[in-house]
Amino acid sequence: MTDARRLDGKVALVTGASSGLGAHFARVLAASGAAVGIAARRVERLEALVDEITSNGGRAFATSLDVTETGQIDAAVEAVEQALGPVDILVNNSGVTAPNAIHRISEDDYDFVLDTNLKGAFFMAQAVGKRLIERKASGRIINISSTLAHRVIGQLSIYCMSKAALDQMTTAMALEWARYDINVNAICPGYIETEMNTDYWKTEGGQAFLQRFPRPRVGEPKDLDGALLLLAGEEGRFMNGSIIRVDDGFAVGFK
Ligand SMILES: NC(=O)c1ccc[n+]([C@@H]2O[C@H](COP(=O)([O-])OP(=O)(O)OC[C@H]3O[C@@H](n4cnc5c(N)ncnc54)[C@H](OP(=O)(O)O)[C@@H]3O)[C@@H](O)[C@H]2O)c1
Repeated sequence: MTDARRLDGKVALVTGASSGLGAHFARVLAASGAAVGIAARRVERLEALVDEITSNGGRAFATSLDVTETGQIDAAVEAVEQALGPVDILVNNSGVTAPNAIHRISEDDYDFVLDTNLKGAFFMAQAVGKRLIERKASGRIINISSTLAHRVIGQLSIYCMSKAALDQMTTAMALEWARYDINVNAICPGYIETEMNTDYWKTEGGQAFLQRFPRPRVGEPKDLDGALLLLAGEEGRFMNGSIIRVDDGFAVGFK
């Protein structure tokens, strides 16, 4: 790895790090030298990840956080800062879906998705951004959006809406916080195989869906490492308000 991609001395905070992409991002950032605060609701999974990172020579700290309980957010950031030092990099990764047809979506499902994917992400970024501004420190905020911010598919309307709004949140924060030397960017992954969807891709429906992709394949979490480390490290200093799709062309359209 080039020196410019090392993150030694930096503190990163990853939300939704108890599984899937968030856990992967935490491992990658720790392997690049950052001390990593990891936050989610399933604390026992976070503790296991702390043990793994620590046994590989890294530094990590777990904190319980439900991003929909905005009153918890500041305390979680504070706990990470007490344990590891001031946060330089936020990976705003927590996210949920509640697939359903538009005419059947309940208000509870609507709030569940928007409160997690958008409101939670906004107040996480605000909590970290405020601290960076107070310290007059530069920082990086990386919002984990989705290729579905850029095209819709059936049953996922609220999810698509939340990610489209997250992209616009990224742009708005990039504009306002450039003066404070805080770079705000987004990664929009395509379909990446994680424990949550791995069984689906083996089903008949999953296989049929895949055949419509420009290339019939899903990605692996490591396919996002380049974008993550670019935005987190020194090489990303001139990137602000960038919305980076890493989706193997999914948003371009079906074959
Ligand atoms: N995998 C893909 O194909 C794909 C594609 C595009 C975008 N994404 C995005 O990538 C991110 C990670 O997704 P994933 O595939 O890794 O799914 P996942 O394994 O289900 O991970 C979601 C994470 O979000 C956390 N989370 C959910 N609700 C939360 C809340 N209220 N407060 C705090 N944390 C919460 C979960 O932790 P707890 O349950 O422990 O709280 C979990 O760690 C999401 O934003 C998703 O939209 C994924």
